[in-house]
Amino acid sequence: MEKLRIEGGRTLSGTVAIGGAKNAALPELAATLLTDAEVCLRNVPAVRDVDTTCRLLDQLGVSVSRPAPGTVITRGLGKTGSEAAYDLVKTMRASFLVLGPLLARTGRARVSLPGGCAIGARPVDRHLAAMEALGAELHLEEGYVEARCDRLRGAEIAFDVPTVGGTENCMMAATLAEGTTTLRNAAREPEIVDLAVLLTTLGAKIQGAGTHTITIEGVDELGGGTHDVMPDRIEAGTYLVAGAAIGERLELTNIVTEHLQTVVDRVAASGATIEAAPDRLVVTRGELRPVDVRTQPYPGFPTDMQAQFMLLMTQASGSAVIRETVFENRFMHVPELHRMGADITIDGRNALVRGPTPLSAARVMATDLRASASLVLAGLVAEGETVIDRLYHLDRGYENLEAKLSAVGAHVERFRD
Ligand code: UD1
Repeated sequence: MEKLRIEGGRTLSGTVAIGGAKNAALPELAATLLTDAEVCLRNVPAVRDVDTTCRLLDQLGVSVSRPAPGTVITRGLGKTGSEAAYDLVKTMRASFLVLGPLLARTGRARVSLPGGCAIGARPVDRHLAAMEALGAELHLEEGYVEARCDRLRGAEIAFDVPTVGGTENCMMAATLAEGTTTLRNAAREPEIVDLAVLLTTLGAKIQGAGTHTITIEGVDELGGGTHDVMPDRIEAGTYLVAGAAIGERLELTNIVTEHLQTVVDRVAASGATIEAAPDRLVVTRGELRPVDVRTQPYPGFPTDMQAQFMLLMTQASGSAVIRETVFENRFMHVPELHRMGADITIDGRNALVRGPTPLSAARVMATDLRASASLVLAGLVAEGETVIDRLYHLDRGYENLEAKLSAVGAHVERFRD
């Protein structure tokens, strides 16, 4: 089993180049099912979820090649399959994003339900209701969604909660539907805009991505094209927090600062010094103050940055309240942070963090992707040697983590035992 050893208590300085966004690359890889033509995605991060999605595409009859780091080229082989099996979907919920493209393209899909997930129930009921509204017939059988349709028909779909994956699934399906689809109360995350840019490059007609109302005029077929995946705002936010805790002019490049403005504002309010340009940030630690945050859909504070920000607050002088409103069970990092000396009390959806507490190195266990990132940050702050177990969570979403951290002065190594 691979583990990460971190020798903490060092400062970080130098430059970290942020990679492509995992959460944009995954729906964009799923979108390649909408065409047989060649699609070239660049700036694709080298993370495990991308490997898993490429495997799924391969199983679905798509030829996938990765000729250079960051580049994925797909081409349909003219006989797209229809099944996304439990083995893959259970390891990565985003596999469910093939439902919309498969239905739109082939009129058939058999996709395993993702089931429970460490950070809450995370149902897919809104995805399913949206597919039905587009004219699909759905049955649930043996843990799978079996879906069929003739050609999908455009429809008015109003989401009662803005769902990122639901909006993406539906937007992809609607590109090949007959007529116009309007999505109301759509999610507004930058990854949705990036997906719309790719789909438009392939010939789709989409208006309003990035707002609450997205309109998709269906076309008969999509072609090929090349697209650069947007930078990963959560990876950038994670390094920003590292810089706020232990940075001496830590520079982040290849980012869109606007995408992480709320995080930048909160980190700056906590006392770090941040120099911001549209595509780079330089962060230096300061005297840390408590800052309350509440997670919300974009452009609010991202739930995917909650665990990392909580770690920062353990180093601030005073008490901060962190409220999680997007997922119901996303404080699994807290017991592990307790083991390193953090003083955090959970009350329902609120976590009260009392700082500053010196952190002590420990053996800890990653529980989900972003929780693992907070443990890495804790290991960097703590004096002594921290060992993080269950690294596969981290590998799902952070590209070259040890190399990137080592290059800016951290002592981090991967080992097996
Ligand atoms: C995406 C991101 C994830 C991020 C989340 C919220 C990807 C691959 N993952 O996940 O990193 O944490 O957005 O920003 O992009 N919900 C339902 N029914 C549904 C769908 C969602 O009740 O059919 C609920 C969820 O349980 C959750 C909320 O809606 O409480 C938001 O979930 P959603 O935006 O769909 O998250 P994901 O797309 O799964």
